[in-house]
Amino acid sequence: MSDSLKYKDVYEQSINQPDVFWGKAAQAVQWTKKWDKVLDDGKKPFYLWFAGGELNTCFNALDYHVESGRKDQVAIIYDSPVTNTVKKITYGELLDKVAKFAGVLTGVGVMKGDTVIIYMPMIPEAMMAMLACARIGAVHSVVFGGFAPNELAIRIDDAKPKIIISASCGIEGKKTLAYKPLLDEAINIAVHKPQKSIIYQRPQVKADLIAGRDLDWEELMQTAKAVPSVPVAATDPLYILYTSGTTGKPKGVMRDNGGHAVALKWSMKHIYDIKPGEVFWAASDVGWVVGHSYIVYAPLLYGCTTVLYEGKPVGTPDPGAFWRVISQHGVSVLFTAPTAFRAIKKEDPNGDYLKKYDISCLRYLFLAGERLDPDTYHWASGMLKIPVIDHWWQTETGWPIAANCMGIEQFPIKAGSPTKPVPGYNVQIQDMDGKTLPNGEEGAVVIKLPLPPGCLPTLWKDDKRYLEYVTERPGYYVTGDGGRFDLDGYIYIMGRIDDVINVAGHRLSTGAMEEIVSKHPDVAECAVLGADDQLKGQVPVGFVVLKAGVDRKPEEIVAELVQMVRQELGALACFKEAAVVKALPKTRSGKILRSTMRKIVDGKDYVVPSTIDDPAVLPAIAQSAKIIGYGKKK
Ligand code: COA
Ligand code: AMP
Repeated sequence: MSDSLKYKDVYEQSINQPDVFWGKAAQAVQWTKKWDKVLDDGKKPFYLWFAGGELNTCFNALDYHVESGRKDQVAIIYDSPVTNTVKKITYGELLDKVAKFAGVLTGVGVMKGDTVIIYMPMIPEAMMAMLACARIGAVHSVVFGGFAPNELAIRIDDAKPKIIISASCGIEGKKTLAYKPLLDEAINIAVHKPQKSIIYQRPQVKADLIAGRDLDWEELMQTAKAVPSVPVAATDPLYILYTSGTTGKPKGVMRDNGGHAVALKWSMKHIYDIKPGEVFWAASDVGWVVGHSYIVYAPLLYGCTTVLYEGKPVGTPDPGAFWRVISQHGVSVLFTAPTAFRAIKKEDPNGDYLKKYDISCLRYLFLAGERLDPDTYHWASGMLKIPVIDHWWQTETGWPIAANCMGIEQFPIKAGSPTKPVPGYNVQIQDMDGKTLPNGEEGAVVIKLPLPPGCLPTLWKDDKRYLEYVTERPGYYVTGDGGRFDLDGYIYIMGRIDDVINVAGHRLSTGAMEEIVSKHPDVAECAVLGADDQLKGQVPVGFVVLKAGVDRKPEEIVAELVQMVRQELGALACFKEAAVVKALPKTRSGKILRSTMRKIVDGKDYVVPSTIDDPAVLPAIAQSAKIIGYGKKK
């Protein structure tokens, strides 16, 4: 913790003089051309950070460190209990590989501004592929390996990649999953066809390559020539990352180069209180925003060693996995999702595995991705005896909106709260009419524009959909979360107020699942809701009404629906339960009463809405929920 900084001063300057504040932060980044303006608000509500400036993100993450004395420092520790591998890659070695792979990309025709999809497991080559794209100004879009071919196809059609980079397989706990058949199926489904794909062959599975389209990573690397980084505009896209909205069509969050580099570098010191040269571990997946920001870009931009962990918190091989990694590699800061800690707590409630390791190197545990429930907070802080920091953010923002900023001023922790807005974010609570509410009152959590650097400037090729975030309440970005400030100015995030749910820290859309369920020939209509779950935070639960005349066993239909969601969206959706009901509760205007259904499913008290069409439907829903194991009073 810094003695000289005070949160109040830092925060106020960031809000009142954003250009002075971020202009100063930007000096930590290497620019090939200085910006003309820190903040260009000429096209409100589209804001541009560091307009006129030029830089290269890969240069900042690699070349700069090699040139300034970190050549032999380890950049990546690849720790893969599922393949029994630990491999260390220095900044010098990583730069060599990335510069060569960038040469491979240019060799197959990828140019500045082209898009590239990366569908890879947690192996160093996934990071190399991302950095190589950044090096040549190509825009990457990493798709999480757990997504089914149909979801990959949707992203191919939206991002229109010139090439796709993939691997022969992923290893998920005890399962080895061949990726190539999934990739082939996705390319078949997609309308847009990439020109080439580059496949990294892992020893566990050998992928069959299609002549003329598929190329072998290692073969290409043997003859590749290293290429230098190219300057790109600060406002040029670095990547697209798809995330769930409220419909079946994911949103392509766009990230720029300049604002992203500045914000992430600033966050490492001021939020995470880590120093260059130390080991930072974000136990997530490169397919999620946490992986983009805190496995790949931020630790490397800041000159840290990052851990790339291909394993789970439990089962690979036991609930001591995290403690083993921390002690073996000297991890200073760990960042993961509360679900991971709930999984460890479930298998090792007394911390017997923890006692086997010396983890005195660990200074902080940061948790995000879903609400940190007070039970998990108390368990983790009791076990670890270090600050356990809840922090709140979203794919859209790319870095934390609220946190207890360890590098600025450490506030007393209140369980259930991610503490205070991070400098740069003017967070407010509003009522239904857009009126700002005083501390203590709950409402919609919004952020006054402009958002700080690093947040989404827009959605990929979809300014119109981006505007939905910022025009519903003019002048404010709507986060989609509900919450409140307490009288001490601590924020509490109470959950989504839209149809997005969070399953094991993975953001999913119930709307997307409803679209899949509705395609079943026997289903007339359906509702999918997020139900509270002790391990995963939330899990989806379906209610389906069958078409008139369908006379089949409900359990058969439900099994088919479960299979459909698994096949079309992916196993990660964890859609395992649905009930067949006679009718869904609706308002007289036909709107499904989802929030009332959610309360029923979670066994909470509910008020029968005055607008309900047929109140008799609610007890029937409650009864069906109980049959499938939900709706019990807590
Ligand atoms: N590729 C393919 N399939 C995947 C996958 C991937 N990368 N990731 C998950 N899946 C599959 C799993 O194999 C599982 O399939 P199954 O239904 O056939 O068993 C399903 O998706 C659900 O996976 P998961 O939610 O990981 O459940 P789990 O029971 O295997 O593990 C936890 C439970 C708590 C250990 C796990 O969810 C976890 O590690 N959570 C931490 C989450 C996290 O890091 N989130 C990132 C945000 S910071
Ligand atoms: P994602 O875009 O996948 O990171 O999901 C973002 C959403 O996860 C947020 O809008 C919140 O609903 C939820 N979330 C993330 N972090 C937290 C947190 N610390 N507390 C409460 N909710 C969180």
